[in-house]
Amino acid sequence: MKAILLAGGKGTRLRPLTIHTPKPIVPIFNRPFLHYQLDLIRQVPEIDEVILSLNYQPRRIEEIFGDGSDLGIRIRYVVEPMPLGTAGAIKYAGDRLTESVVVFNGDVLTQLDLAAVIRLHRERAARATIVLTPVENPSAYGLVETDAAGNVQRFVEKPSPDEITTDRINAGIYVLEPDTFDRIPSDVAWSIERSYFPSLIERGDTFAAYVYEGYWIDIGTPEKYVQVHRDIMDGRFRAAPFDPTPEGGVSLAADARVEAGATIEGPCFIDEGVTVKAGARIGPYSVLGRQVLVEEDATVDGSVVWPNGRVCREATVREAILGRNCHVGRSVRVGAGAVLGDKTILTDFSRV
Ligand code: GDD
Ligand code: MG
Repeated sequence: MKAILLAGGKGTRLRPLTIHTPKPIVPIFNRPFLHYQLDLIRQVPEIDEVILSLNYQPRRIEEIFGDGSDLGIRIRYVVEPMPLGTAGAIKYAGDRLTESVVVFNGDVLTQLDLAAVIRLHRERAARATIVLTPVENPSAYGLVETDAAGNVQRFVEKPSPDEITTDRINAGIYVLEPDTFDRIPSDVAWSIERSYFPSLIERGDTFAAYVYEGYWIDIGTPEKYVQVHRDIMDGRFRAAPFDPTPEGGVSLAADARVEAGATIEGPCFIDEGVTVKAGARIGPYSVLGRQVLVEEDATVDGSVVWPNGRVCREATVREAILGRNCHVGRSVRVGAGAVLGDKTILTDFSRV
């Protein structure tokens, strides 16, 4: 059995982080996001190949995962000539498939029992099976109505307030039968959410729903990107490399240097080669990537700082995300919600 990961989106909502780092490989702690998805897929031994469907910066992604042998799973890359939309991409990537295929949106993280979804698909002899999950506000997702027997009745992508009739949304994980792909036109952008799923419902094909109520998140916005780190640090989702067991939940690399007089408050993650100088304070829910330097009397609190950043003396970074190689000058204040692209330089005393 094969799995297709849709990882071709531009990651617009995560800009500027995704200008140099496509969304599928933004780091969660210190591992590219797709690693976490591959961890889940590897739990189903029947899946012997993962097809990565790409079009935005595909080389960057290939360089990281190669043929998958390091991870113990075969990886193949299919690069679209142009963005074909979610259904077009599946058809293009799954061109020669003859058996059921598992499809993942490339930006969702979950602890779902994937094998159970595949079992349901087979038991129901479904043409398609979709995973649903409850969320507080469905407006940013695909809303899915089902009947009492667990069949999908209605699919509304990005519903307006008056269309919200349930809290269950499309979790972005499907099992599909490739012989249904004939209804997807070739070589034009086509959406699985807006066209393919509604067409299954119209034709009365068996379209089963698997409801999952455990951990699930789409990391596609800065808020959710920060949230996933918090959830892992809070133990709501267990994932390497964060180890919640040390005292206070402070995950500190062996070679990180924390000077006497610095304060570290967990939970937080401090990666290899980090230096925290005397008088500096690292507050809860902070993530310091490799080689980050936090100077005397600076504060980093509730923020994710990608590798090689420098926070100069007396600066404060609160509830922010800093891309790679950022320079936060002396006494700078970076406040809640700030997202700095790679190599941002903030001159001493700036306020952001
Ligand atoms: N290869 C390829 N080509 N991939 C694409 C394309 C394309 O043209 N367009 C989008 N993708 C990939 C994205 O990289 C992402 O992994 C996935 O398809 C979904 O696209 P998003 O842009 O993240 O969509 P969304 O989050 O607004 O909504 C989707 O996901 C929700 C769950 O997180 C929809 O599927 C919703 O129905 C769903 O609820
Ligand atoms: Mg998304």
